[in-house]
Amino acid sequence: MVNKIIQENVIGTYSNKDTLKYYEKVGLWISEKILFKKYFKKRNVKFLDMGCGGGRTTIPLVKMGFNVFAFDITPAMVKLTKKNLEKSGLKAKVEIGDAINIRYNSNSFDYILFSFNGIEAIPGRNNRLKTLQEIYRVLKPKGIFIFTTNTQKYFKGRRKLFFLKEALKYYFSKLFRLNNKYSRINDFEYGDCFLNFKPAMFMHFSKPERVKKDLEKIGFNLIFSEFRDIIEKRKTPNLRKDYFYVCEKK
Ligand SMILES: C[S@@+](CC[C@H](N)C(=O)[O-])C[C@H]1O[C@@H](n2cnc3c(N)ncnc32)[C@H](O)[C@@H]1O
Repeated sequence: MVNKIIQENVIGTYSNKDTLKYYEKVGLWISEKILFKKYFKKRNVKFLDMGCGGGRTTIPLVKMGFNVFAFDITPAMVKLTKKNLEKSGLKAKVEIGDAINIRYNSNSFDYILFSFNGIEAIPGRNNRLKTLQEIYRVLKPKGIFIFTTNTQKYFKGRRKLFFLKEALKYYFSKLFRLNNKYSRINDFEYGDCFLNFKPAMFMHFSKPERVKKDLEKIGFNLIFSEFRDIIEKRKTPNLRKDYFYVCEKK
């Protein structure tokens, strides 16, 4: 269901010229290289690259020898992935799709990736939960799913107040029945916010402990989890934002 907030504050933001320019760049993070080597060992198997953006991960995955299916909710991003594939002379099945309702049959994929906090771009706690359930459904038993979330811990000191301010804006908008982007969030969760993009970008910042409980309830076996900077053995403060989860379908 593409509602107004998804249309404007997800697809709208990711279709922005500057954002598209940023996502032209292809290549895996150091942490992704380390984890993919360890957990995506089989080759020639079906791989689903969700929220593929401009194909940053899609292209390396095809090069690694997977049979890649990629999708994104933002048409301009799908176009960019196709352009990047064509430039590299590579092939993958790329289309417009919604992570909340994955259009593939149950038990279809050996491996699934939802990289660079893509799940956090989905407005509504129930939608994010539905996404995880959908991933569980389309993953084969013993299949591996890797994803990252933002973390609230990244915001330290006075910046911590940011989430509180965003929560107050939400409750104020609901209370006074304002018609704005905050009141359009159906099931607000602390950590939901709008980032300073044009148009404003919806984003959630998770608490990893809560995500782990959600994964467990859905049935995933969490086999590894860690902050990106720790995996990469780098002290870059920005990397503290991203938190990796490696999950197996029981
Ligand atoms: C932070 S970008 C990451 C892009 C790419 N995975 C990367 O690592 O460069 C998140 C992507 O998720 C996509 N996205 C957001 N909500 C989605 C949804 N419900 N279904 C599919 N893709 C979605 C956005 O359009 C965007 O391209």
